[in-house]
Amino acid sequence: MSATKSRARDIRRVRRQRRHRCWDHLIIAPLWVAYQANLGTLLRTCDAVGACMALPDTDHYRQALATGDSRRLRERTCLHWLDTGKDRWVRQQRAAGWRIVAVELAEGAVALPRLPAAEERTVVLLGHETGGLPEEHVDAADLCVEIPMIGTGASLNVAVAGSLVLYRLAGLA
Ligand SMILES: C[S@@+](CC[C@H](N)C(=O)[O-])C[C@H]1O[C@@H](n2cnc3c(N)ncnc32)[C@H](O)[C@@H]1O
Repeated sequence: MSATKSRARDIRRVRRQRRHRCWDHLIIAPLWVAYQANLGTLLRTCDAVGACMALPDTDHYRQALATGDSRRLRERTCLHWLDTGKDRWVRQQRAAGWRIVAVELAEGAVALPRLPAAEERTVVLLGHETGGLPEEHVDAADLCVEIPMIGTGASLNVAVAGSLVLYRLAGLA
């Protein structure tokens, strides 16, 4: 084994011992994200930054998460299964005092480098891979975050976008 590989393994052993339960602080809500690989990637980021994940309690989401989660992180990461519809759940979170952050390309959005770490309980909404985030949720959010892009692509992969925003909100980037 190369020296670099063995050092990475040693670092992991020392630094990555903490599992987290619900810290009631940061929830990523990929309520419109459809693809299993994206849900699996987001779950891995949740584990890394200590965030929870909220998902619709449907066969599709349970199946997609099980397939996308190749590391069985769903047994160790805090999952909030919605006990109501998406729109109602977001309204309930807001009424309960959570700040709602929409991740979307939108007029008036805050650019990612200006996004401070979350100081209050925050729910992060992500949009569908092709349809994006429903406009009413972008409009109703307390804050919309856009990740600047200077290339030719129209948008980022949703799991990449969600992970970048989670790292900022968790204060780790
Ligand atoms: C692939 S994009 C959806 C693109 C879709 N065709 C559209 O026009 O809305 C999927 C989701 O990733 C997030 N996303 C992707 N790139 C982003 C960016 N540069 N800034 C903010 N959010 C982004 C948003 O949540 C978006 O709804």
